[in-house]
Order: sequence, then structure tokens, then C-alpha cells
Amino acid sequence: MSRLIVISNRVSVPKAAGAAGAQGGLAVALNSALREHRGIWFGWSGQETAEFTGHLDMQRNDDVTTATIDLEPQDIDEYYNGYANRTLWPLFHYRIDLTEYDRNFGEGYERVNERFAASVLPLIEPDDLVWVHDYHLLPLGSILRGKGVKNRMGLFLHTPWPPTRLLASLPFHERLVASMLEYDVLGFQTTEWLESFLHYVQKEMGLKVNLDNSIDYKGRKVVARAFPIGIDFAEFTEAAKSDEAKEAYNVLKSSVRGRKILIGVDRLDYSKGLGERFESFARFLSDHPEQAGDAVLLQIAPPSRGDVASYQQIREDLERKTGHINGAHADVGFVPIRYVNRGYPRAQLAGYYRAAEIGLVTPLRDGMNLVAKEYVAAQDPEDPGVLILSQFAGAALQLKDALLVNPHSVEHVAETIKRALDMPLAERKRRHARLLASVRQEDVIHWREQFVKALVGNEKEPAGSDLSQNEAA
Ligand code: ADP
Ligand code: F6P
Repeated sequence: MSRLIVISNRVSVPKAAGAAGAQGGLAVALNSALREHRGIWFGWSGQETAEFTGHLDMQRNDDVTTATIDLEPQDIDEYYNGYANRTLWPLFHYRIDLTEYDRNFGEGYERVNERFAASVLPLIEPDDLVWVHDYHLLPLGSILRGKGVKNRMGLFLHTPWPPTRLLASLPFHERLVASMLEYDVLGFQTTEWLESFLHYVQKEMGLKVNLDNSIDYKGRKVVARAFPIGIDFAEFTEAAKSDEAKEAYNVLKSSVRGRKILIGVDRLDYSKGLGERFESFARFLSDHPEQAGDAVLLQIAPPSRGDVASYQQIREDLERKTGHINGAHADVGFVPIRYVNRGYPRAQLAGYYRAAEIGLVTPLRDGMNLVAKEYVAAQDPEDPGVLILSQFAGAALQLKDALLVNPHSVEHVAETIKRALDMPLAERKRRHARLLASVRQEDVIHWREQFVKALVGNEKEPAGSDLSQNEAA
């Protein structure tokens, strides 16, 4: 079996059992994938150094080998906070209003991709499979090709891919996409993002897309497909049965004294629709005063990308909104929104999910959303909670038995909260059984196997099967 060289912006060194959970779908998924394969996970340590040296910090923890580099403050500013999180992230989440175009960001992005390529190059052996992740590193494959790397290389994008007309607002968009075509495999979370990408290469680059969704480019075949990421189902359901999970469940249940719990768990990011979610809950409280004292929203939202102004802004907005809603609806001994800004160990999180009658997952735009899948996996199948899921999360293409909502419509979400709270046990069980089957079957192992198979390049995909992948789920 070939080794895997996984490359991503951030590397999450596996933590001791019980430590606060890795935050972010990518970290959670890759730790589990690397345990199965020999290989190395390479990326940024998350640390700053005064001057870039390219020094590799190699570590082996919990069966995963990691190699990390430190970056200079200017790199972090222009590449991570700049081009990745002030340009590409908002643009890829359809937030052109928040997208900033700055030539220094673009230069920093290219410089850091060069630094990544030069640093990882000595680690790549001839038979290795190279698997690059996410929007931070779109041009990395083409830089590695320029340095003579002939290995099979794939890119998986964890975010949405924007519509062509939005992407066309990005200066040098053609160059960025052309660089992506140096990979052998391009993976997207859903058929929706895949279709947007294929639309772009046809309309903006005049390329032909074959029936199997491959693209012929400069004499090579580039495979583009949807690979919906899943959770580590076995690990998560195990965690949900642990004493730690039971303890968390009991503490939360007893603290609400018989009230129903709605739970939200998200990085504090404007794409997650937290403001709209709070307003929807407030609307439910106003529309149903008879039930208003019976439900509590627990929102867990660890801070994210705090050096970026739009993230500081969303944090302030949410603090204000929480104060405002609690001020209007709280009573002696009852606060409707519990807003918590910290991370929790996975078992504890599983206990909280299980204690909640409703999982409220309402991003305005999301590549996939693993929280929705974790919520389903943590439920008691004999008395499951109800998942309310945004129609704009990639997960909605698979989790069709959730109550799908338009997160922009406060009325719609408020009515759906009411419907979920009143849902009879038989319907809850019926919906949950189908959701669980999907989450169990399309787990992170399935995702990794499918991607690696495509990367190895020995699979035979029937024509058109890519676009039915999500439909069949
Ligand atoms: P994203 O990748 O945009 O952050 P996902 O929903 O796909 O969104 O993945 C988020 C991951 O981070 C999930 O596995 C979730 O459990 C984890 N996570 C989010 N918030 C917390 C928290 N407060 N404590 C522990 N884990 C968290
Ligand atoms: O899933 C999107 C993503 O950007 C991942 O790549 C990353 O692990 C996660 O969100 C957390 O983001 P950051 O590394 O910027 O904290």
C-alpha cells in the first residue's frame, strides 16, 4: 500500500484522550484517516517564527507522524488571515460583501504555497500518494509539479465551490483554477460544488468535460468528483456511550430542570448563521409564549480566526444579540440562550448532543457540516432528537430526513422549531433511523477509501455516477 502524504494548512497533532476536541471538520477527519495509513501529515504548526527557516518539526503521536513548519508574521497576515480567510473563505461562502482583494494577500498566498512546496518536497518518495486539503493550498500541486514531482496528487476542497459569476470577481481567477488542474484528482463535498466547478472550467476556460466528469487538460486526465466527508462513526458512537458522555448528559439535563434543549455547536464563523439562528429562536419564543419557558438554546461556539475583523464583528454581534434576547425573555431562574465560547472533549460533546431534543444546524452556506452528522450519531435510537438542518449545508444532500430549513427565514426556522418540539416519537424514530443509516454508511473511512481509490487511479467509475452520488445517499 502506498504511503499517504497529507498536506493541509493546519496540522492537528493528535491529543491525549479526554483533551478538548479538535475543532474543525478537517482535523477530526484526517487524524482518523492517518491512523489507517502509514504516511505523514505536513502543514503549518500554527506557530510564528521571526524569520522563516523551513525547519521541519517531526513528531509521532498516537500512530500519526506529523511534520510542521513555523511561519513568519507577514506570512500569517497575508496568507492565512489575508488571502485564505479574507478573500477565499468569504468568496467561497458566497459572501462577496466580506471579500477583500489585496495584492499583498495574493503575493503572500503564493509565497507561502512556495514555502510549503519547498519544505514538503524532501519528504515525498516516488510511490507516495499526495493528498492536499482545502482552499489555503489550491496552487500547491502545480508548484510541486514545477519542482519535478510526478506522483499522483489530489486536492480535496472542504468548502463550497462558488458559482462562476461570483468566482469571476476574483482577480486572477483563471490562473488559480488552471493551477488546480495540475492535480490528478479534484474532490468536492457535494455534487452542487462539483457542478459549479465544472461549469467554470467549461464556460471560463473553454474546456471539455467528459461524460465521467473528467477533464482533459494539457494531455492529462483530471478526475473531478464529489466525495461527501463523514464522521468517524465508530469512534463517535463509542464516545457517546462513555461515562464521560453520560456525566455530561446528566449535568446538562439536570441543569435545565425538565425543559427541552436545542443545541448548536459551531466555530464562531459568520457562515454558520448564528445571528439568524438566535433570532429564529427568539421568534419562536415570541410566537409561542405558552411554550416559551419550556425550551433552552445551548449554543457552543468556540472563537475562530480572531485576527480577522469580520470574525471580531460576528462575535460582538452575537454577544449583543444574546444579551438582548435573554433580556427580553429571561425570568428568575430561567435564561433562554446559553451561549458558551469554548471547546469540549468529544465524549462530553456527544453527551450534550444526546441530551438535546433538537439539533439546530443552520449555516447560511457550508461545504458539508459534520456537526449535523455527529448530532444524529449521538442520539438514542429509541428516543431520538430531531435534526433541523439548513438546506444550504452540503450535508442536506445526504440528510434528507432532517427538517430542512431556509436559515435566512426567521419565520420558517421558528415554525420548524415548534414542529420539531411537537413531533411524535414514531416520526422521530422513523426519520432518525434513515439519517443514522446514511451517517453510518458514508463515514470518514468510506470517504477516505473513495478518495484514495480515485487517487491511486485504478477504479472504474460508471459514466455519470458522480452526479448521482449524493442523490443515492
Ligand atoms: P467546520 O469545518 O467549518 O468547522 P464542521 O461542522 O464540518 O465545520 O466541523 C466542526 C467540527 O468541530 C465538528 O467535528 C465539531 O464537533 C467540532 N467542534 C466544533 N465546536 C466544538 C467545540 N466547542 N468543542 C469541541 N469540538 C467542536
Ligand atoms: O472546514 C473548513 C476549515 O477551514 C478547515 O480547513 C479547518 O480545519 C477548520 O475550518 C478550522 O479553521 P481554522 O484552521 O482557520 O481554525
